[in-house]
Amino acid sequence: MSERPPATEPPLPEAAPRSSDLGRAPYREPPEDATLEEGALAGLGSGLKGVFITFEGLDGCGKSTQMELLAEALRARGYVVLMTREPGGTPLGEAIRDILLDPRYRGMSPRAEALLYAAARAHLVQEVIRPALADGQVVLCDRYLDSSLAYQGYGRGLGADDIIMLNVWATQGLFPDLTLFLDLEEPARSSRLAAVPDRLEAEDEAFHRRVEAGYRELLVQHRHRIRRIDATGDPAEVQRRVQAVVEEELELFSH
Ligand code: TYD
Repeated sequence: MSERPPATEPPLPEAAPRSSDLGRAPYREPPEDATLEEGALAGLGSGLKGVFITFEGLDGCGKSTQMELLAEALRARGYVVLMTREPGGTPLGEAIRDILLDPRYRGMSPRAEALLYAAARAHLVQEVIRPALADGQVVLCDRYLDSSLAYQGYGRGLGADDIIMLNVWATQGLFPDLTLFLDLEEPARSSRLAAVPDRLEAEDEAFHRRVEAGYRELLVQHRHRIRRIDATGDPAEVQRRVQAVVEEELELFSH
């Protein structure tokens, strides 16, 4: 990771950690012949002043709650934290989300689906995530690129390579500094699902099994960037695990 430029944002409250003090995942040199995609996935992170953390997992794993608890803990430390979600996070993104989750569009072609997720992401990155990172903020995002890899790449069978290529283009190569995969087994997950399933939740068991297998594959392939969190137990207990990993990887709590 290159040296961060000096902070230029307005001063934070007294004794709060400055963005220039933000922790960082240790830089890991990608293999010499790595492509841009492999390099970025190998832990290059966002390359911007702030810190970009994404939350991943199967529907009902509790990641939204954990993201909120982490935001609270970081804010208590004086960080400026921006929380957002995918698909959504902007008026355009929320409109795309409505289309994507609407059960009336069951049977949407997998490529159209992948493009719509990438379109919402492209807009969110340009309008919200990049500016916040450039400003030195901590950005927490509920789902990001790995959801597309797991759901469209593996679940729909489009393949991880094409999904990475599409998303490198859509985000202009913006990758998270750290991704937390919240791992919770059935039936704990299904007990948290909404009574009326959305279009993705309404997919059959085989689809969800492929998505899960996809996440497990990503955990192995991108272990330098994605960390698994055991999401069993009460929220406070899971949050302790989340913070331990965030500290280990980015040292946000010891500054
Ligand atoms: P959401 O209600 O946000 O699910 P959750 O609360 O579990 O995060 O709905 C988002 C759905 O969209 C979810 O089923 C996962 C799916 N999804 C994709 O298939 N590809 C993507 O790139 C993203 C971001 C989400």
